[in-house]
Amino acid sequence: MRDCFELRDADCLGRIGELSVPRADAVVETPALMPVINPNLETIAPSRLRGEFGAEILITNSYIIHSNDDLREQAQSVGLHEMLGFDGVIATDSGSFQLAEYGDIDVTTEEILAFQREIGSDVATPVDIPTPPAASREQAERDLETTETALADAEAADTGEMLVNAPIQGSTYPDLRERTAERAAETDLDVFPVGAVVPLMNSYRYDEMIEAVLAAKRGLGPAAPVHLFGAGHPMTFALAVAAGCDLFDSAAYAIYARDGRYLTASGTEHLSELSYLPCSCPVCVEHTPDELRDAPEAETERLLAEHNLHDSFAELRRIKEAIRKGRLLELVERRARGHPALLDGYRALLDGAKQLEREDPTSKGTFFAVSPESARRPEVLRHHDRLDRLDVPDSVLITEGGVPRTHEYDAVWRINPPFGPYPRELAETYPLTAETPDRADERAQRAAADGVARLADVAPDSRIQLAHDDWVDSALDCVPGGVELENLAEIERRDDEE
Ligand code: GUN
Ligand code: ZN
Repeated sequence: MRDCFELRDADCLGRIGELSVPRADAVVETPALMPVINPNLETIAPSRLRGEFGAEILITNSYIIHSNDDLREQAQSVGLHEMLGFDGVIATDSGSFQLAEYGDIDVTTEEILAFQREIGSDVATPVDIPTPPAASREQAERDLETTETALADAEAADTGEMLVNAPIQGSTYPDLRERTAERAAETDLDVFPVGAVVPLMNSYRYDEMIEAVLAAKRGLGPAAPVHLFGAGHPMTFALAVAAGCDLFDSAAYAIYARDGRYLTASGTEHLSELSYLPCSCPVCVEHTPDELRDAPEAETERLLAEHNLHDSFAELRRIKEAIRKGRLLELVERRARGHPALLDGYRALLDGAKQLEREDPTSKGTFFAVSPESARRPEVLRHHDRLDRLDVPDSVLITEGGVPRTHEYDAVWRINPPFGPYPRELAETYPLTAETPDRADERAQRAAADGVARLADVAPDSRIQLAHDDWVDSALDCVPGGVELENLAEIERRDDEE
């Protein structure tokens, strides 16, 4: 890995970073979205992308250009930047996707890299093999050998200042993804796209997509800039960023527009079913749904594509702001409510809480517990893992609120589901400043009860009393037998009766 990426801020595995692109003499702030420009069917003129949409980088396909005599000659004579009329950073793909779709392409990594360099690409791609999800392990391993040869050819090629992608394949085998990612990080290539996730996304298998990303991240480590190849729907961005993706490409803005689909960060709408436009981009402010529907077909398509792209960039700005504030997972939780498959993706992310915890900042803005899944966030895991660092008094009352009069103890600690017990001195430190609902759900109570069990484990000689607020049985079942229980709600009822 060469040194072209600097981290500025982080939350969960998400980060704000700076990708230096020497050939373009530019620095791209990440997470970044690259609109896909198909030189054969342009929906939005690339010259508009920077000023109107804020795109610093776009991606186009060098294989499509190479395969068309007119485009090839034009790109060779004036270069990509002038041909497209875009003065930002231009990344190029290699034809691998065409290889996966049609089974054959007629260029080698060496040839297509030389062509990408010739036409002025700033970030080039070798010919990797995108192994689809249904592939056998043998197939995935065979394809990986070819991809690794392509990476070696890319390393050997004379690519000058151009950055070069090292795609990570391995289908749905996390150990293969992790192993190739480790090897890719050892090359002197620059950007690391997680490949062949398009079929997963098209069939809403976001959990497997996240597993593939997390596996790649384990192999790559935190220093590598990661591109999620083909992920263009804004509802997936927050989740993918939280898993550690830095670059996205969107063909979706144009493809969805072709059949009347209106993208939003909380899901897909169909123009034919919209009575109002729930967005404040220029298109949506200046048009009614009827005006969009009644426009000539090409105009409807272009306007929809413009909205789709505006909304995608708006979501990226929201994500970056959330990272700054330490609120990325709260945003992911909101997005996960937009589609059950996204919730599966978020749950797969939380299955990796140990991995997330290693990179997650130890202090950030207030933790908001806003869903049952909040109980599985890395901050809760970390708090419980660190209970063994606390000095536990011989006798401690852990309370969710009140202090029962009849009890005796050396100290009173607090408990705030989903977090387990903590001494009052820690109440003003992250994450225990958490805002949690007064009516804790079962998951949160069970997580807090696990915390009590962990404390009982690290302080077997302490007398522990727990004053809880009407916890459900399944949570109380997680509290070890030696802990004395008191239900604050019952005390209150008794007091009221007196
Ligand atoms: N575009 C979408 N997926 C892929 C992939 O796996 N490899 C390449 N090169 N391009 C892609
Ligand atoms: Zn809009």
